[in-house]
Amino acid sequence: MHPDHTYQLLRNLTSPVVAITSERAGKRNGMISDSAIRASIVPTMPRVSVYIHKFNLSHDMIYETGRLVMHLLRQDQFELIHRLGFVSGRATDKLADVPHRTGRLGAPVLDQCYAHFECRVVNAMDTGSSTCFLGDVVEVGHGAAAAPAGEVMTAGYFRTHMPAAWRTDYEQHLQAAQRFAAERSKDIRAIVWKGLSV
Ligand SMILES: Cc1cc2nc3c(=O)[nH]c(=O)nc-3n(C[C@H](O)[C@H](O)[C@H](O)COP(=O)(O)O)c2cc1C
Repeated sequence: MHPDHTYQLLRNLTSPVVAITSERAGKRNGMISDSAIRASIVPTMPRVSVYIHKFNLSHDMIYETGRLVMHLLRQDQFELIHRLGFVSGRATDKLADVPHRTGRLGAPVLDQCYAHFECRVVNAMDTGSSTCFLGDVVEVGHGAAAAPAGEVMTAGYFRTHMPAAWRTDYEQHLQAAQRFAAERSKDIRAIVWKGLSV
């Protein structure tokens, strides 16, 4: 099968679009991901996982602190995706104008989202180009509204409805990430996560 066709088929396996925030030594940051999934079926033991590329600032912040906040987004939160997912926090404070508070784990919780999950990382898997973080959910909340309303933002909905002016930028970022992943994906290292033993 042609690789492009395979890639389009694999896109059916992307997750809802989430915003992931982190904090390290006073620096707060946020990024966007469409690779977050539920990683536990036990209601009393909620878990999530997410793949984060090593070139993202968020990767190092989460790897070093072992904590993150994952936010489901409403279907109208295009501006937040543009702000957090199209530029790195290395160059700018992306949360400066995004209303948020400090969560239980010390990482930023965004006020305006569908729902959020504060997570402590309990394991990690290296893919060469990214790390898959497994997180225990320690706190859950809704956005500013008392209860979530409407639909969550999905990757397919975002790709179809994003403003036309963003599309070239989006495609260029995706292609750069694909080049990075192509170079690094075979270099998989074993990880023993902090606190775990072999
Ligand atoms: C719709 C969308 C989905 C994305 N999914 C991922 C993802 O799953 N993993 C990842 O590492 N980056 C993903 N990105 C890219 C990061 O959000 C982007 O590189 C961001 O600028 C990283 O910011 P940082 O360097 O401040 O951490 C996605 C971006 C968009 C717009």
